Amino acid sequence: MDRSTNILISYYSSTGGVHRLAEAVAAGAEKAGADVRLRRVPELAPASAIAANPVWAEHVASTDHLPEVTLDDLRWADGVALGTPTRFGLPSAQMKQFIDQTGGLWFRRELEGKAYASFTATSTDHGGVEATILALNNTFYHWGGIIVPPGYTAEVQHEHGNPYGASHVAKGGAAPGDVALLSAQHLGERLAVVASQTHELRAG
Ligand SMILES: Cc1cc2nc3c(=O)[nH]c(=O)nc-3n(C[C@H](O)[C@H](O)[C@H](O)COP(=O)(O)O)c2cc1C
Repeated sequence: MDRSTNILISYYSSTGGVHRLAEAVAAGAEKAGADVRLRRVPELAPASAIAANPVWAEHVASTDHLPEVTLDDLRWADGVALGTPTRFGLPSAQMKQFIDQTGGLWFRRELEGKAYASFTATSTDHGGVEATILALNNTFYHWGGIIVPPGYTAEVQHEHGNPYGASHVAKGGAAPGDVALLSAQHLGERLAVVASQTHELRAG
């Protein structure tokens, strides 16, 4: 890369699976030489709901120190990966709330020409990973982004089998395994490489 490439990984996670994927996407972007910001979107759920689920409560406590994403992080980035758990086949409300705050950036055309990718987790094989990734990608069309799918551009993609984005099926609450993490890392690497080529697509 001839100038440093900035990659933002912005994610929401209740019980840690998507957080783990986010770390792997970040590691891949770093491996490609990018400057990386790993940021969580703010929690919206009431404290009583979090407290009722010990795994959720533990994850909130252990990630409380991590910075929350800001609109300035989006402005800073050349490439962005958004990650969210699947909620009834859709992105989480927490991620949607973040997306819905980007109207001003969109209006000023500050989001166009950047590289974008998506990742998610479900608890069942056919619970909607592709649906959630494609739903996130709908936003990138509106932003005028360059959508970066992993396709089958690495050996691990043949093993993992999701050409749309990075994903994990958290059966019984399982954490992402080596193949899912390697696939997520590949997505981060590919996002950074594509993002490094997008500077000239942007006005400012
Ligand atoms: C309200 C709600 C809706 C969910 N909807 C789905 C779904 O549509 N398909 C599915 O397979 N899993 C569904 N799940 C399970 C989550 O997707 C899964 O627990 C999550 O991906 C784990 O990610 P996390 O550990 O980062 O929170 C749902 C969970 C909740 C709480």
